[in-house]
Amino acid sequence: MSSALDAIQELDVCAIDGWTLHEFAEVTSTSSLAAHLPPWSAVAATVQTAGRGRTGRHWVSDEGGLWLSAVVPTPGDPALWTLLPLAAGWAALGAARDLGIVEARLRWPNDILVGRRKLAGILVDRFSAEAAVVGIGLNVSNRPGAVDEALATEATRLADLLPAAPARAALLVRLLAALTREHHRLEVGNFTGLCRDLNTAWVHRHVQVTLAAGRGVLNGHFDGIDSHGSLLLRNAGGECRVLPAHQVELFREIY
Ligand code: BTN
Repeated sequence: MSSALDAIQELDVCAIDGWTLHEFAEVTSTSSLAAHLPPWSAVAATVQTAGRGRTGRHWVSDEGGLWLSAVVPTPGDPALWTLLPLAAGWAALGAARDLGIVEARLRWPNDILVGRRKLAGILVDRFSAEAAVVGIGLNVSNRPGAVDEALATEATRLADLLPAAPARAALLVRLLAALTREHHRLEVGNFTGLCRDLNTAWVHRHVQVTLAAGRGVLNGHFDGIDSHGSLLLRNAGGECRVLPAHQVELFREIY
């Protein structure tokens, strides 16, 4: 374990299918800790005091949720790994559907939703050229709405969707196995297969959306992604704009 982590009391360390998982009771952010660890390490915590969401937002990380960060190797040309955030979303979606939540879907780029409520969020950090940290926040039996009133209507949890919330250990195994699988798909360069799968997972594909790209706000219909992972936005006249993921911010579905 890196000296940066020595000050924090570790609950457990165990091996899961090629991963070394470090478990903590309370951390600032599992992703910040994972940044100090080698590939195929993972960090999970009961509570995060400074959980981070995409675009600098705070991520509510109360007890009962699953807060997990996994370090994956990203060798070679960085361009080969631009699809990693989307691949991580597909991995988490597969894990949710395998639990029996068949109606789970993706919202671009990698939110896991059931209906309009968010079940899980993903943040991918590139702290170095050699590795990325995939952070997954999954609401299980925590109570995000008790921490932030807005989340009472915006979030959902496994406990709301299944007869009983699955055991934490089983969830960790499922998520890490799914990440290994999708990492392999990127490693061997099967981008077409991934993009095809993803285009089945936006159940609300063709929904009206608004997004910020560069300095402008764009509106149109979300038309999935192309084979490079770029977002396709169709305007009322039927013309399609191709927007590389890194240019797109503040994507919102409009109902
Ligand atoms: C989002 O939807 O905005 C992304 C949320 C990502 C939250 C997870 S919880 C585990 C890991 N640690 C963090 O601080 N953030 C990610």
